[in-house]
Amino acid sequence: MKKTTLILILLVFTSANADEETRQYVKFPPKLQLKQLSNMRDHMVALNEILEYMAFDDLDEAANVAEKRLGLSARHAHNTNDLAKYMPEGMKQAGYSMHSAASNFAQVAKKGDAESAYEALMAVTQSCVACHAGYRTR
Ligand code: HEC
Repeated sequence: MKKTTLILILLVFTSANADEETRQYVKFPPKLQLKQLSNMRDHMVALNEILEYMAFDDLDEAANVAEKRLGLSARHAHNTNDLAKYMPEGMKQAGYSMHSAASNFAQVAKKGDAESAYEALMAVTQSCVACHAGYRTR
């Protein structure tokens, strides 16, 4: 793992540990808020599946899950266009970073080298962490 990546992770964790609420509130219409949270729970499930496939050295399946459920291809199923209308610019960018990091992970994983794949996966989880540190919907 590159040193710079580790430092980045530590920085994000330190800033997410504040006792006060520092996240920006983003108001979605109630139905879209439910949709957004259900997308999120699906992100978690997808991430877990990716790790399971990686634990069993099935990098191809890990790549497929990442592209379909988290990657740029997942955006339509997740109504991202509707959601984006209500998002501040930084949140939209965080969302885009996550989708593109997942697509990048898929491409790296397909090449079959587990260590590079784990490193690429870290960029995905970093984008989860970054957006959660900055925004809330409730
Ligand atoms: C573009 C911003 C953004 C990105 C990227 C993001 N999330 Fe979220 N997520 C949120 C917001 C906002 C909430 C609601 C937090 C709140 O209001 O307390 C949330 C909530 C969640 C929840 C709670 C769902 C519930 O039903 O309460 C889970 C689980 C979650 N996210 C997982 C993930 C995972 C895993 C990733 C990365 C693969 C991810 N999220 C990426 C913005 C994001």
